[in-house]
Amino acid sequence: MAESNEKRVAFVTGASRGIGRAIASRLAADGRHVVLASRSEGPLNELKTEIEQAGGSASVCAVDVGDGAALAAAIEGVFKEHGRLDILVNNAGITRDNLLLRMSDEEFDEVMNVNLRSAFVACRAAARPMMKGKFGRIVSIASTSGLVGNSGQANYAASKSALVGFSRTIARELGTKGITANVIAPGFIETDMTKDLPPQVTDHIKGLLAVRDLGKPEDIAAAVAYATSDEAGYLTGQVITVDGGMTMC
Ligand code: NAI
Repeated sequence: MAESNEKRVAFVTGASRGIGRAIASRLAADGRHVVLASRSEGPLNELKTEIEQAGGSASVCAVDVGDGAALAAAIEGVFKEHGRLDILVNNAGITRDNLLLRMSDEEFDEVMNVNLRSAFVACRAAARPMMKGKFGRIVSIASTSGLVGNSGQANYAASKSALVGFSRTIARELGTKGITANVIAPGFIETDMTKDLPPQVTDHIKGLLAVRDLGKPEDIAAAVAYATSDEAGYLTGQVITVDGGMTMC
């Protein structure tokens, strides 16, 4: 299918740093107008400037994805402003690690709210604009923790695993409307989320990987770029694992 003449509009959550920042930069470099969504405006404004200096197009949306009403309103606002919403990347995510016996209700609920409920709210808000445009590309960033489990992450793994069933369900519901929904499951990627791992843990992890090295945010951005492209219309309901050969499942 030929790319649209008008810029496709992408909404990327958690765009202020790490994987989300790399995704936003890549989508902008690929010619999308990217709405940079995260909690604090400062880093988003810096990224917007960086994207514009590179010849791309972006706008800033300060929103806490844990606040469902605010998130839905933000997405509706994008449609009102641009008259279209083509791409949604549910990337914002948090960890609140603890072993099962020590995990509090609050730790469980907070992770489920930010990692899973936000994706539900965002997809529900984005579905109508995408249906109007007869085109949509939804990608949710899960984790290998959600596929194979990880000690200390019962909450996080549950939220990421649930994104798979959720995405496959909406892929079935929306497939005839030109809308696809896929999951990308990163392994260990060098970001703020993993920077505090002790060196011996990082070395142990590297030993488990076919490529013997941690991934970069750009490795995930490349997969998102494909899954959200016009040419990926036949890719839906899939989990694309980008983990340096850690799980191979
Ligand atoms: P990070 O901690 O560096 O960045 C997370 C981003 O989400 C930040 O922009 C942060 O401001 C935003 N965010 C967090 N809570 C938010 C909220 N309530 N409202 C709005 N924005 C919020 O994390 P990283 O590593 O870039 O992770 C991005 C995604 O990739 C997450 O969903 C994470 O679970 C997933 N992932 C990361 C892996 C890694 O090794 N770094 C591995 C597997 C999955």
